[in-house]
Amino acid sequence: MPWNPDQYHKFREQRAAPFEDLVKLITIHDNLSVMDLGCGTGELTAKLAAMLPNSHVVGLDSSAQMLEKAAAYAGPNLSFEQGDLATVEGQWDVVFSHAAIQWVDDHAHLIPQLFGLVKPGGQLVVQQPSNHNHPTHAIVREMAIEEPYRTALGGYVRFSPVLGIEAYADLLYQCGAEDITVFEKVYPHVMDNSDAMVEWTKGTLLIPYLERLPDALRETFLDDYRARLRPLFPTSPVFYGFRRILFAAARPA
Ligand SMILES: C[S@@+](CC[C@H](N)C(=O)[O-])C[C@H]1O[C@@H](n2cnc3c(N)ncnc32)[C@H](O)[C@@H]1O
Repeated sequence: MPWNPDQYHKFREQRAAPFEDLVKLITIHDNLSVMDLGCGTGELTAKLAAMLPNSHVVGLDSSAQMLEKAAAYAGPNLSFEQGDLATVEGQWDVVFSHAAIQWVDDHAHLIPQLFGLVKPGGQLVVQQPSNHNHPTHAIVREMAIEEPYRTALGGYVRFSPVLGIEAYADLLYQCGAEDITVFEKVYPHVMDNSDAMVEWTKGTLLIPYLERLPDALRETFLDDYRARLRPLFPTSPVFYGFRRILFAAARPA
């Protein structure tokens, strides 16, 4: 998918808030080997590396556009690789992922797979959005099955693979994990108006739809989406409560 680092960074501050909550779940030791799955532009990977003394951190992402930006942060303790988080192989003390695993389907299979990347005594530490029932997301799914978009999208519609928090706790327990922490939090964003919500989703949720739509229909789709959101969120500023799931679990030493 063609990720656009500039669009993604329009809400840099809001997107970084859950990172601050997530890093608190890491048990910090000297000399950790760390994998950041879906590292994006590498800005948060570099922050992570700076917090972990004498660590070696690898950021992995499937997007060449994102990795091009990340390259600027590379250094002796921080490197970046292109790859698919669903099939990566190896073992690390900390397998970290911030706002990325929601792009991979079948979490009942993915979570054991990711936990398998954790060394004995290490941790899996993940944050992902769970905002898929918010109107900003539900409207996109509705539009995708309406004409003229349905035909233009070739029937494509994306349903979130994200499970409920109990399911993650259960999956981690079934993997033999200990020190399991799973919680969901609403991040309170205040935006200028509902059109700003569209700018937000353009950086993530809308990418696979806009990529598939022909040029002629892209702006029509965006205008239609904005028009459907305005009556639901008529105020200025507008409150955008954004749900996210955070979890951490350790592999017994
Ligand atoms: C919302 S961005 C998050 C980037 C960064 N972790 C952050 O929080 O700023 C999601 C990232 O996941 C990457 N991604 C999506 N699916 C992936 C996959 N299967 N394997 C590796 N990276 C993937 C995208 O390319 C994108 O850079």
